[in-house]
Amino acid sequence: MPDDHSKLVPLLPIPNRTVKRLCADDSAGSRVKVGHRQALTAQKTPVRYDWGFLLWDNNKSSLLADPRVLTMQLQDILYSQGFGTRRVCAGLIQQGWVSVREASSPNAEYVLCTEATAGYEPEGLLLRVQGVDWPFHAKAYVLLHKPASTECSQKPSTYPSIYTLLPPPLRQRPTKSAVQGVQAVGRLDQDTTGMLLLSDDGQFIHRLSSPKKHVPKVYQVTTKHPVDEAQVSKLLAGVVLDDDPKPVRAANCSILDSHRLDMTLTEGKYHQVKRMIAAVGNRVEGLHRSRIGRMDLPADLAPGQWRWLNASDLALLNSNA
Ligand code: URA
Repeated sequence: MPDDHSKLVPLLPIPNRTVKRLCADDSAGSRVKVGHRQALTAQKTPVRYDWGFLLWDNNKSSLLADPRVLTMQLQDILYSQGFGTRRVCAGLIQQGWVSVREASSPNAEYVLCTEATAGYEPEGLLLRVQGVDWPFHAKAYVLLHKPASTECSQKPSTYPSIYTLLPPPLRQRPTKSAVQGVQAVGRLDQDTTGMLLLSDDGQFIHRLSSPKKHVPKVYQVTTKHPVDEAQVSKLLAGVVLDDDPKPVRAANCSILDSHRLDMTLTEGKYHQVKRMIAAVGNRVEGLHRSRIGRMDLPADLAPGQWRWLNASDLALLNSNA
């Protein structure tokens, strides 16, 4: 941080996303309007206020985060977390339903706040909304142990949607896309159980679900007929499915017992495990996903339960292996 703050265009509310574009396009010395929700930058492009305040250093032509001003109004914090429209969030606060515990707070107590426009640093902030504790997350990354007889669709046809297993704020978080809230990273069939990731971070979803990224997913397969080495060899060598002449192969496959296999896939085609097992003359009776990338489904997460992904989970999921 330079000492001479007068050389900085003071405060520019912009989403983090915009930082690079500004750095690249904005010429040093240009003025930037400050303090608008729909901030107009020197690029004349309306930038949607997200959160975070940054400083533009005209000398260095770079943006600097300033820890003094990394604040956001409480009503906007609540809105960003999915607690309803800004008006609803302001109402919740004014009616005394919201307490906050700041990361920097020395006595680690929740303090009631009835001022909708009060400023807080969102990172590390703990909210208590209508008695429910909610840690601030700039982006949502969650893990669900999908139970059987649930559908991954938002509009299920026969069974309840997996989204009903998540608390409303996760389903209502505002996003820049047409769909609100977290989205599943790929889909599992209604009868498949196990590890399902959900997020509102489009890049994260793409990185983990795109067939081109080859993220390994491990399935435990229970079969109708006994499994044998000939079937395993065929699965490893590659089988042809009805929709594509190019063979698909299991990256790994091993027999667990007479009717169970461990199978690793890196593509994620429609009903891929079931169709591959059918192609070698067997049939899937039960399917459970136990691992994505380098992360295992935690043993203490019961079917139907969800939890936030923590930093070490994300490091495992984001590392290539
Ligand atoms: N393969 C399938 O056949 N079903 C799933 O749910 C996942 C992979």
